[in-house]
Formats: sequence, structure tokens, C-alpha cells
Amino acid sequence: MSATPLNQRKKVTTQTLRARKERGEPITMLTAYDYPTALAIDRAGVDAILVGDSLGMVVLGYENTLPVTMEDMLHHCKAVARGAKTAHLIGDMPFMSYQVSTLEAVRNAGRFLQEAGMDAVKLEGGRDVASTIETIVAAGIPVMGHIGLTPQSVHKLGGYKTQGKSAAAAKRLIEDAHILEEAGCYAIVLEAIPDRVAELISHRLHIPTIGIGAGAGCDGQVLVTHDLLGLFDRFTPKFVKKYANLHAEMNRAFAEYVADVQAHQFPAPEHTHSMDDEEFRELLEQLEVERV
Ligand code: KIV
Repeated sequence: MSATPLNQRKKVTTQTLRARKERGEPITMLTAYDYPTALAIDRAGVDAILVGDSLGMVVLGYENTLPVTMEDMLHHCKAVARGAKTAHLIGDMPFMSYQVSTLEAVRNAGRFLQEAGMDAVKLEGGRDVASTIETIVAAGIPVMGHIGLTPQSVHKLGGYKTQGKSAAAAKRLIEDAHILEEAGCYAIVLEAIPDRVAELISHRLHIPTIGIGAGAGCDGQVLVTHDLLGLFDRFTPKFVKKYANLHAEMNRAFAEYVADVQAHQFPAPEHTHSMDDEEFRELLEQLEVERV
């Protein structure tokens, strides 16, 4: 439940998140892809909403995030922006929307703010994308970085595996984190890396780190909402805490509906529009006259 009444909450900005880190207050972030979920997350007092390209897997049913397009992302970002008025809103740049050229990257990043009501964009990668990030930030668009397990590189990484487990890999991640901060990122997602490495990065950076499968030492936490709600039944990563089992609850409700309709229990009188007796008698008389 939110500590501050709904009507007194101020819009969360990049500065709010930075101040949270400075005060040692944990930042909360969740994903959303539609209006009702964004509304509920916003009302619960979550600081930031990421319209993640996880959309591809948990909503659109793809095997991975690679098929997600700019148009898919903008469509869902617009719905989220209609629902969430207080949370800081981040649009996830999909595969191939920022890798081909810096010009395309800036154009696409701008569309998230200009057309879809987002406050910032997120993109995956370390040193390889630093100059792209610099140019997007120079255009006035806040960028959230994302290192560790970067799902758009699933084929390069050889699967959804924990990153930064060796000393050399961890050092490279720490370097990447510094490079992204220098490139102008206002925050960085750390995905699936050892907790001690995430904690080191969090202490070394001035900007907030938001962890997913990166332990309790990050400045904030993010989860994919469909995992948290138990709505995605294909698999549940180790780092997810399920706060509900909505897939089972949906199944129960749909099966009950089928049973009710088949047993003539639905619709009942309270779900039905009635017609005045007199009007109905008149209708029957008119139909009788027409028949003769
Ligand atoms: O797409 C997404 O939902 C993400 C989160 C896992 C951080 O990138």
C-alpha cells in the first residue's frame, strides 16, 4: 500500500530516483504493457514503470524478445502512459532499433517521448553502445542502461545465464557500468549477476542501479509483473518472488464461466435487461397482425 495519499503524490523524475539513492531509500520498478496494469501499479505507489520488451514473451507469446518491433513497443507504451500519471515511465528500445546507426537510435528514442508519452528510454549493452547513449542523451532524452544478462543478446550469450561470475567477467561488468555512467545514463539495470558484484557496482556509481536477479545490494529492484503475478506459466526464474497465482485464478474463473453457461446458470435475472410487460404484449400483437 502507498504511504502517500494518491492525490498528493508528485510525478517521479530522474532526479527523484537519484535523490532516493542518495538517501538510501530503495527504488521500486515493475513492468507494464497495458492500461489497467499501469493504473494498478501507479496506484500502488511504484516509483517507475518499464514498458519492457519482455512484452514479446509474456504478452505476445514469442520465444524471446527479438521479434518485438518499434510499433509493438509504441502501441503498448501509449496504453501504459494513459494509465500511469505518477510513476516515472521508461520505454524499452527493441532489438535493432538502436544497433544499426546512431541516427536511427536517436530517432527511435525520440519517438518514445514524442509519440508514446514515455519519460525515458532503456537500452541494452555496455561499452559497445556508449557512444549511441551519449548522442541520445545529448538530444535531451534520458537513458537507462542495462548490463549483465541482456536478453536481446541471448544467442551471443548462449542462453539466459548468470553473467559476471568469474573475476575477469565481473571486472568487465564494473568497467561497463562506469562507462555507461560517463556516457550519461541516469540509472542502470543490472540483470542476473552475482549479488556481491552488483553491490560493488552500486557503491561505485553515483547513479542508481536497479537489480533483477542481482541481489539486495542494488539501489532498487525491478521484476517482470507477469512473473510477480504468476501470469506467465512457461517458466519462473530463480530470482522471482511470486506474489499471486493469477494464471490459476484465471483458469478457475474461465472454467466456472463455461460450467455456468452450460448449466444455464448464467446469465441470471440480475445480469439481464427486461422489457415492460405491456410493451412486450404490444410487440407480440403487432407481430401476430403482420403474420396474418
Ligand atoms: O524487458 C524487460 O522487462 C526488462 C527487465 C527484465 C529489466 O528489460
